[in-house]
Amino acid sequence: MKIQFELNGQLVDATAHPGTTLMEYLRENAYYSVKHGCDHGECGACTVLLNNKSVNACLFLMHTVEGTKIETLESLSSHEHIHPLQETILNAGATQCGFCTPGMVLSLEALDREKRDSDENDVRDALNGNLCRCTGYVKPVEAGLEALKTRKGQSK
Ligand code: FES
Ligand code: FES
Repeated sequence: MKIQFELNGQLVDATAHPGTTLMEYLRENAYYSVKHGCDHGECGACTVLLNNKSVNACLFLMHTVEGTKIETLESLSSHEHIHPLQETILNAGATQCGFCTPGMVLSLEALDREKRDSDENDVRDALNGNLCRCTGYVKPVEAGLEALKTRKGQSK
């Protein structure tokens, strides 16, 4: 099965077996920021952006992403340059094992693209689908709020 879509700014002609999920395809192609968690749309570890919205990649079969725009954390940061949301989360000590962090960053990025004046409830809603076994959410919510406010200030 052939699928064409945009992945991190590049047009991709993908070949996948029927039944392959977007999460499986991405991990098979070394997009390791996309974590393999529950496989059932419950943990948010596999979060990616699909047409600027955060979604669980484990819930999308490859044929359903034809013609879409997919972004993983690899498109927002590199070894040389980390994303400002990641930087704030790191500086705030809002990550421990880090398994949930890529998904949280992308959920916050989706919120930032959708709404430039987010409050704490928006941040909590945005992170609602990103389960974290380590942090208790207080620091990620604080860091997310601070990062989005900082970006808003910088974009004025
Ligand atoms: S692995 Fe996709 S939501 Fe858990
Ligand atoms: S930091 Fe470990 S799961 Fe969130």
